Amino acid sequence: MNIVILAAGQGKRMHSDLPKVLHPLAGRALLSHVLATAHALTPESICVVYGHGGEAVRQHFEKMSPPDVAVSWARQAPQFGTGHAVMQALPHLKAAAQTLILYGDVPLTRVESLQRLVAVAGAGLGILTVELEDPAGYGRIVRDPAGRLVRIVEQKDATPAERAITEINTGIMVLPTARLRAWLDRLGNNNAQKEYYLTDVVALAVADGVPVNSAKPDAAWETLGVNSRSQLAELERTFQRNLASQLLEDGVTLADPARIDIRGTLAVGRDCSIDVNCVFEGNVALGDSVSIGPHCVIKNVSIAAGTRIEAFCHLEDAEVGERCRIGPYARLRPAAVLGEDVHIGNFVEVKASRIGDRSKANHLSYVGDASVGKDVNIGAGTITCNYDGANKHRTIIEDEVHIGSDTQLVAPVTIGKGSTTAAGATVYKDVPPGGLVLTKAEQVFKPGWQRPVKKPKK
Ligand code: UD1
Ligand code: CA
Repeated sequence: MNIVILAAGQGKRMHSDLPKVLHPLAGRALLSHVLATAHALTPESICVVYGHGGEAVRQHFEKMSPPDVAVSWARQAPQFGTGHAVMQALPHLKAAAQTLILYGDVPLTRVESLQRLVAVAGAGLGILTVELEDPAGYGRIVRDPAGRLVRIVEQKDATPAERAITEINTGIMVLPTARLRAWLDRLGNNNAQKEYYLTDVVALAVADGVPVNSAKPDAAWETLGVNSRSQLAELERTFQRNLASQLLEDGVTLADPARIDIRGTLAVGRDCSIDVNCVFEGNVALGDSVSIGPHCVIKNVSIAAGTRIEAFCHLEDAEVGERCRIGPYARLRPAAVLGEDVHIGNFVEVKASRIGDRSKANHLSYVGDASVGKDVNIGAGTITCNYDGANKHRTIIEDEVHIGSDTQLVAPVTIGKGSTTAAGATVYKDVPPGGLVLTKAEQVFKPGWQRPVKKPKK
């Protein structure tokens, strides 16, 4: 099978500098959803028809990792209609195979529905249709009294009787490629929009005695397109609602299935629970009994069994071990790797650091470029001074160290096993194991000292 994806339309109603098919749905370009569906059908060829000013579209996808089936690109400029668009793809199509037409701005069509369409079409022509209560704007499916499909009429060319038809053309169709070539040659543009309508090939197929059949998708949203930001927002909700339903079915507790956003993949163990307004991006994996508090943003993170992420945490490119307590208001930045039973509390930022089992940093700290051993306690306000203005340096905190509140660890520096730093210490030389380090700042008392007072205003 060949697949042609029409993506040349201007998308005027988006009011955007970004080509319509590059607008993201669930964090990925609309066209990328359609390409994924196309690949899932394992076709022999895929051709995207892109438009005037659409070089950005082509570039966006060409720099992505090479897919299994090479995608060819056909430029359509100017744009004289859907039939004209498919003509541009013809040189890229294998004549012996069927050709399936998809749309770059119709992102949610399910592979199963398309397979059904391909099956009913056989070697003939197949059209995906739906019944709509309000068919306004769509091409109508005209059938003869026996129910056989005879042609498609566009809204703008339809008689009042035809406009009353509620079965509409989704635009998605599959046809024999050699025939398609001949039909496109015969298309005219003598219609209300002076366009070459792909839909006119249906009447030509009927005239040529080619069997024409239709299939319906499981749900109407599978065939909805994006013409405006409001339609984009609606499809985003549909997509998210579907993912949420799947999670519920898989045994996840969601505080509100309408308030979760997954922009990537979320793998879950048994008995996970997710509170409201969490955003998952990239690849996120949760082990058994992980619970995520409200308002967390979690991107490319694995979280092992029994861990609790409290409200308002931001985690990115990190690994969290079993039974940890993170947050509220914690931030794990790239290459933060936490062992088991680690506690990271409020306003603690961890970057490029390993933190060993049972270690804790509960309040207001920055742990960057550090190796923290097991059973370490990091007091409130501790900072690893990892950056000298030019280079980053590492801090090593060995097992069972206690870092006093407000310690500054001036890297590169090592705190030996079991040692303690006193509150407020500025540690810039390596500390041997098993002792106390303090940097003396003498406490001075001035009896009867007067605070400055404000000068009275003139
Ligand atoms: C088309 C169908 C209509 C169907 C509707 C479903 C035709 C003539 N009409 O109408 O029967 O009900 O889709 O949404 O096919 N495109 C190009 N190049 C062009 C014109 C369009 O690539 O020259 C692409 C657009 O980017 C879009 C798709 O084709 O993805 C549909 O184009 P659009 O103008 O929205 O077609 P409709 O008039 O809505
Ligand atoms: Ca349309």
